[in-house]
This record gives sequence, structure tokens and C-alpha cells, in this order.
Amino acid sequence: MTQDTITAPVPTEPSAKEQPLIRVRSLKQYFNINTGFFQSRPLKAVDDISFDIRAGETLGLVGESGCGKTTAGRTILHLYQPTAGEIIYRGKTIRTREDVQEFRTHATMVFQDPYSSLDPRMTVEDIIGEPLDVHHIYRNPKERRERILELMEHVGLNSEHAARYAHEFSGGQRQRVGIARALAVSPDFIVCDEPVSALDVSIQAQVINMFDELQDKLGLTYLFIAHDLLVVRHISDRIAVMYLGKMVELADSGEIYSRPLHPYSKALMSAVPVPDPKAARANQRITLTGEIPSPLNAPGGCPFHTRCPYANARCTELMPEFRELEKGRFVACHRAEEING
Ligand SMILES: Nc1ncnc2c1ncn2[C@@H]1O[C@H](COP(=O)(O)OP(=O)(O)OP(=O)(O)O)[C@@H](O)[C@H]1O
Ligand code: SF4
Ligand SMILES: [Mg+2]
Repeated sequence: MTQDTITAPVPTEPSAKEQPLIRVRSLKQYFNINTGFFQSRPLKAVDDISFDIRAGETLGLVGESGCGKTTAGRTILHLYQPTAGEIIYRGKTIRTREDVQEFRTHATMVFQDPYSSLDPRMTVEDIIGEPLDVHHIYRNPKERRERILELMEHVGLNSEHAARYAHEFSGGQRQRVGIARALAVSPDFIVCDEPVSALDVSIQAQVINMFDELQDKLGLTYLFIAHDLLVVRHISDRIAVMYLGKMVELADSGEIYSRPLHPYSKALMSAVPVPDPKAARANQRITLTGEIPSPLNAPGGCPFHTRCPYANARCTELMPEFRELEKGRFVACHRAEEING
């Protein structure tokens, strides 16, 4: 069997009650990269990932820089047209341009950098009002204004901020403006792409708490992308780990921190500071050797084999299946049972 013949499995059908809000099926996003005179090669930024996001949950998405987190988030929202695969929202596959337009009124994104994602020449009122204008969400100027003030209140800004310009604000306040703008269409799903990474550490906790509160108040579902494993741990119900465009593990947040099963997750989690010394001893630090390969030259077989301390001959030849090792726990590793036995 070749690498290309194996596709990620489709998790078993859930009951109606736990119907996922979003289903991602065999999603691929390849970018064509020019490699020379009239020649190009696909860069497999996202390469066949499948998972569900349940209504009201926060799914954390982690992995090293360049592993495909942002591309996955953007492709799920159809900001990039998927190379292959499907996004199913509330049981309906998004296919046509109309489906995408409709989906965009339910799903949106908060970006990492509040400095570059907001136009500094626009007032806060204009920034938050823009999506209301685009989607014709109000009946008259009074209603528009009231909605903007309501959104500002949701994110802890007051009416005096409305006439001010984005460049007059601190990083934390700009991110609040960005979140209010994302909330304008009353979404139920938000891809949060490292929304606190650019903020001072002292502000990060406040903004994370705000995401938490907004989730409860507005019934939101998040795909929360982060570098900082402590940040995702705090906010996530489940965590997905990516490596070179693939998903390698998906588990409940507490489980993946206390008992990671994939060798790459083990290495990532062992770098997280643990306050309990007993747990710290059990969770010995694993230092990965070797550089992460370029996704333009991803190794065959298991993509992690060039850095994995457990790699054997099979790993260099055959791509491991992303399989449900325990209930609700998916791992892509040939040797998961042996290593964790
Ligand atoms: N528009 C694009 N065109 C070509 N290649 C791209 C494009 N966007 C991303 N890539 C490449 O796809 C791969 C995945 O990038 P992506 O930004 O999704 O990673 P990431 O996990 O979000 O990284 P980071 O943690 O640094 O934000 C990288 O190799 C990147 O260079
Ligand atoms: S399949 Fe092999 S190389 Fe890949 S993570 Fe498992 S043991 Fe390591
Ligand atoms: Mg990114």
C-alpha cells in the first residue's frame, strides 16, 4: 500500500444529541510552489485531516511553527478553497458559493496580530460596523449604532471608544475591537488564530478570560490555535496536535497533558512546566533532535520518523493511520500500543 492510498478514517456516527457543529473530512490544502523554470511542486500545508468540533466546545490546535495550523483554520472557513475534502456545518456540506456565503454568517476568525488586522485609519465604530454593512444586518442607522455599542459592551469597551481610531489603543484593546468585529455577524463558530500571542503576558489572561465568558454568554464554539501550550490547556476541552500538515493526536485536554500517547505529543507536553514535582518526574523532558523537515520535502512513511526516538523500518515506509486507540482518542502511530503499554 502506498502513502497516498491511506486516508484518515471517518469517526463513528454520533447520536443526534452530540451532533458536531463542524465536521472536517479528509481536508487538504496544497499550495503550488514554483521550483524553477516552469516547474512547481505542491507544498502540502494541510494533508488529509479529519475531526469533529462539537457545539459549545473549544478545540485547541497546537504544533510547531509551519505545521499548518493557520492554513487549517483558514481552509475550514473557506478563506482558502480546499484542495480536497469537505467541511460539514450542522450536517450540511459546504459546496457552492452560496453555501460559503451563508457559512460566513455563522463562522468567522480572530487573527493573531491586532496591529495588522485592523485598519488604523478607521474608527472603532467603522471597524465593527463594516461586517454589519457587508451582511446588511440592520434596518436603520439607529439599529446599527445600537448593535455596535452592544458588541463593544460584550468585549469590555465603552461608548466613548466608538469614535476613536484603532491606532490610539493598546494591543489588548485592539484585540477586543477585533473580537467585537468578529462577533458582529453573531457567529456560532470562531477560529481564534493565536489571538493572545502578540499581547503582553499581563494582558493575555484577561483576554483569554474574555473568550471564556463570551463562549458561555453567546454559546460559541472555538477552534483555538496556540503556540503556548499553557494557554490552550486553560481554555480547551480537547486538544489536537499537528505535525507537518497531519493530525497526530486528538484527545481530551486533561488526558493529553497527563498521558500523551503519540511520541511527538509526548515531546511537546514534556516541555510544559508542571507544578506538581511527582507529575514532573513522571513527565520526563524529551528533547527532539533534528530540524522539522520542510513540508515541500516531507519524508515518506510516518512524517515524524526523522525525529522520533521510537522509529523503526516500518515507520519509514508506511504512513500510520489516524485511528481511535481509545474511546474518543485518536493517534497516528504504528507503535502507540507498544510505547504506551
Ligand atoms: N499562502 C501560502 N502560500 C504558500 N505557502 C504557504 C501559504 N501559507 C502557508 N504556507 C506554508 O504552509 C505551511 C504551513 O503554514 P501555516 O502558516 O499554516 O503554519 P502554522 O502552523 O500556522 O505556523 P505558525 O505557528 O508559524 O503560525 C508553511 O510551510 C508555510 O510556509
Ligand atoms: S509511527 Fe513510528 S516514527 Fe511515527 S511516531 Fe510512531 S513510532 Fe514514531
Ligand atoms: Mg499560524
